[in-house]
Amino acid sequence: MKDTGLICTVCGAEYPMGPMFHGCPSCQETGTVGALTVTYDYDAIRRGFDLETWSPNWHSIWRFRDLLPVQDSACQITLGESDTGLIRPRRLQETTGLSHLYIKNETTNPTWAFKDRFHAVSISMAKELGYTRVTASTTGNHGASAAAYSAAAGMDSCVILCHPESSELQRNMIRLYGGHAYVLNDRFQYLDRLITEYGFYPSTTMEPMPMGTPFGIEGYKTIAFEIYLQLARNLPDHMFCPIAAGDSLYGPWKGFGELKKLGLTDTLPVMHGVQPAGCNPYVRSFQENSPVVMVHPDPQSIALSIRDDVGGRPALQAMYDSEGDATDVTDDEIVEAVKLLAHSGILVEPSSAASVAGAIKAAAEGRIKSDETVVCLVTGSGAKWPEVMADLVDEPASIEPSWETIRTEVGL
Ligand SMILES: Cc1ncc(COP(=O)(O)O)c(C=O)c1O
Ligand SMILES: [Zn+2]
Repeated sequence: MKDTGLICTVCGAEYPMGPMFHGCPSCQETGTVGALTVTYDYDAIRRGFDLETWSPNWHSIWRFRDLLPVQDSACQITLGESDTGLIRPRRLQETTGLSHLYIKNETTNPTWAFKDRFHAVSISMAKELGYTRVTASTTGNHGASAAAYSAAAGMDSCVILCHPESSELQRNMIRLYGGHAYVLNDRFQYLDRLITEYGFYPSTTMEPMPMGTPFGIEGYKTIAFEIYLQLARNLPDHMFCPIAAGDSLYGPWKGFGELKKLGLTDTLPVMHGVQPAGCNPYVRSFQENSPVVMVHPDPQSIALSIRDDVGGRPALQAMYDSEGDATDVTDDEIVEAVKLLAHSGILVEPSSAASVAGAIKAAAEGRIKSDETVVCLVTGSGAKWPEVMADLVDEPASIEPSWETIRTEVGL
């Protein structure tokens, strides 16, 4: 039996493991938002720990079960997530001048996004806690993944509240997985009602509040464990993550920290959060040394999945603690990075490419050195955004072209 509980990321108050979705009660009394996260008896885990149990042959996130919160193996749901590639695309290395640049390619997960790590743990935890209904808010990826894992877990009901610009394909995926997809502007009041009045489990991000789950982060932290194994038991010098709520950065940061607690590393990477220039609440908060993430008015960007006007405090704190930063990149830089990745064989949606655009910018500005090891987290596939991909193609394929057209286009 693992000894786990919840701990406040702001005041350090500890609570027994349980369904706490409105943050730290102690912080709430002082008007502060305190996101909760899972804590373990690290000394006990360290004593009985065997790195061989993390063998990649498992093809399931549950190979990391010693450091995951679900106790009952019957509740450990998997669709074969995790175990994603750490790739060294030569074209990108040449462009950036970074000879140790790696892409952590999360597009190969079951619903083609890193979100599958999140919901594998979060919805397994929902099952263990006795929930039969799941809800989430989404721009696309988060909801499609929540619906897939709700189906795998045999949930009675899954209600996904979709951003008006969410991709139609992803809304159809949600329905095919057996979920209910609704398109709404104000998604939070519906979330709140489903949770408080109808007993739904919120498989939502950790923060921003009013409600969030501490459990999904535990899935994201396994990205750090895999990178450690893939770099032959080393950690990168820098990690670039495309951030909205910030779980995408705080999760791996927590994972790196746990490797240190287990005595597997002495160092930690510098964490860089990357956002679109038209929606950069973390960047402005970081510049002003703010302890909380400020709201960004009128967000604009091609990168819908990271176009959030707010963000979570744990990711901002992780950037401060790791001596990292928050960087913004223009939509043109993001599109350029999508094309560079595609020319390296990796098809991603614009939000995912922001991490690469951020690394390119940091390298050009001399903020990272050419011999340092850099990992860019690439979070979701372009295949789920057909309308966006069509806009990025210069010209559609010619139909019944003349031989002359082929010779001219190919340069024969
Ligand atoms: C493809 C993609 N990348 C990055 C993010 C940002 O993740 P987070 O909100 O955890 O920071 C999202 C969130 O929806 C996403 O779908
Ligand atoms: Zn607190």
